[in-house]
Amino acid sequence: MPVIEQSVIRGLGFHVPERILTNKDLEELVETSDEWITTRTGIKERHIAAEGEALSDIALQAAKKALADAHMEADDLTHIIVATCTPDSYCPNTACILEHKLGVSGKIAFDINAACTGFTYNLEMARSIIALRPDSVVLIIGGDILSSRTNWADRTTCVLFGDGAGAAVLTGASNDNGKGLKGRILDTILSSDGSIGDMLKFNGGGSSAPYSLGHVVTENHFISMQGREVFKHAIRNMVAVSQEILDRNKVSTDDVSLVITHQANLRIIESLGKKLGITDERVFVNLHKYGNTSAATIPIALAEAREQNRLTKDSLLLVAAFGGGFTWGSALVRFE
Ligand SMILES: CC(C)(COP(=O)(O)OP(=O)(O)OC[C@H]1O[C@@H](n2cnc3c(N)ncnc32)[C@H](O)[C@@H]1OP(=O)(O)O)[C@@H](O)C(=O)NCCC(=O)NCCS
Repeated sequence: MPVIEQSVIRGLGFHVPERILTNKDLEELVETSDEWITTRTGIKERHIAAEGEALSDIALQAAKKALADAHMEADDLTHIIVATCTPDSYCPNTACILEHKLGVSGKIAFDINAACTGFTYNLEMARSIIALRPDSVVLIIGGDILSSRTNWADRTTCVLFGDGAGAAVLTGASNDNGKGLKGRILDTILSSDGSIGDMLKFNGGGSSAPYSLGHVVTENHFISMQGREVFKHAIRNMVAVSQEILDRNKVSTDDVSLVITHQANLRIIESLGKKLGITDERVFVNLHKYGNTSAATIPIALAEAREQNRLTKDSLLLVAAFGGGFTWGSALVRFE
């Protein structure tokens, strides 16, 4: 086996829009209550993009923070990859728009879509690129503006989502400026099942349901979700893929210092911790502040954990994600 360059997370950052929408605010919009939303989901408030604020705008702020954390400049980057299901536009892609807003050009810049699992898919993208080209410096973004696809008259979905973006800068282990974070990616596992994809979708405007000139937007433009079914699949698949990565790397749940899972519902997060046998204080929760920010939940949580000094030397991080598609995945990261 040839020696493969390992990937290291060097910097993290996140950004959410300024405007906050509380559960109380939602009581004015639909027939719901703070009590229902809090007990059924754990969410208290979420941030919503301002009119004209695009994903690339919030991704830009997250990217700048991640670059500063890594003690790097945008010019140092070789790749920009944005994971999103709510891009600025279908063409040009958000990564190219972000590249331009960062004031650089000539990078390899493209988007991927694995919905809420996007950032975890992006970790493997970065690992693969660095394994092939060890001198790469890869900026990965997980971000979404799901408010742009939210039906504000549908109480079963509009209370769940928020907007945000998180960013990470990765390099090869041997490409170390000695100043940034050191989160060595030990492993990633990704999976998917398209046969149940219709349980969570918005296809209006896509090639399966194109709009024509003068067409009035209909419900297929907005998120529809069979929440109860998605709930079961989310727990089952995140537990399985977490256990698989622990077993494959011969580590026990006792060795795990922190678990960062997709933040969709507190009951899902707590259930995952219990099923894996990981105590509550090692399970990261921030969805009460942001709601489900789709591809952004994991990088926002990572950046906050970094701010809270929870990614300390020798700590072992387990990441578990689940999202539309359906897609899911896990990652193991050792901080040095
Ligand atoms: C969406 C979710 C919070 C709903 O919680 P739930 O406990 O499954 O609730 P149900 O859908 O069974 O609805 C229970 C009742 O609450 C009602 N309800 C739904 N939304 C409501 C709201 N915002 N306010 C008040 N009542 C609401 C329903 O109409 C239903 O009423 P009924 O029993 O009279 O029919 C939950 O299923 C969930 O989080 N699913 C997974 C979401 C997820 O992970 N998505 C992202 C994947 S990336």
